[in-house]
Amino acid sequence: MSQDTWSAVDRYVTDLLLGGDADIEQSLERSAAAGLPPIAVSAPQGRLLWMLARLARARRILEIGTLGGYSAIWLARALPPGGTLVTLELSEHHATVARDNLARAGVGDRAQVLTGPAAESLAALQRESVEPFDLVFIDADKTGYPDYWRASLALSRPGTLIVADNVVREGQVTDASSSDEAVRAVRETLALAAAESRVRATVLQTVGAKGYDGLCLALVE
Ligand code: SAH
Ligand code: DHB
Ligand code: MG
Repeated sequence: MSQDTWSAVDRYVTDLLLGGDADIEQSLERSAAAGLPPIAVSAPQGRLLWMLARLARARRILEIGTLGGYSAIWLARALPPGGTLVTLELSEHHATVARDNLARAGVGDRAQVLTGPAAESLAALQRESVEPFDLVFIDADKTGYPDYWRASLALSRPGTLIVADNVVREGQVTDASSSDEAVRAVRETLALAAAESRVRATVLQTVGAKGYDGLCLALVE
């Protein structure tokens, strides 16, 4: 079993269940043409994010790490009328591509792309005492995850679902002596989740077009 098999299954699933989605496909094409790296979630994962947001009846969604707006389109589409997605992105260029993709997908009105270091945007949201978010998707720089986790909790309410991408890292997450700073930060984040009495969390390993990785799902009680 290898990457070729995982990619073939993702292609099969995408063609069967997720195909013919022009807004989604064109957002990836425009991101690639603008020079953005191909690190968005896969289509099956995007559908999962959409589904989780629907199941959570999310009206306010926070995303940390926008890239070209691919996962943001999935999340914004799950919102009811009047719902809001706030998505945080360091790079002005990525944010410009994302705003264009969100607008072309018809969800520009419900999506706010805030630029700057996510830690600063998160601090500003906390200072402004914004309404809590119903779902948070953490997917920016991995070394920031412990801070993003704390800020996400602070911006949550009982019932909020926090999802964090890339927490398995080809299995390196089990290496307590890893010198990889992303692995260390993910382990610290999972330890924070474990120690947090307000939260029930799990990690699901995933394989697919994006390799071997995994998602942390944490429900605030
Ligand atoms: N969620 C996106 C992928 C995000 S890739 C999708 O699935 O479509 C990670 C993004 O985080 C990149 O665009 C990168 O520029 C951004 N990023 C990196 N460091 C950041 C920081 N300190 N604050 C905010 N965004 C950051
Ligand atoms: C990278 C970031 C991601 O969020 C991801 O899903 C895959 C790769 C990266 O920075 O390489
Ligand atoms: Mg990711």
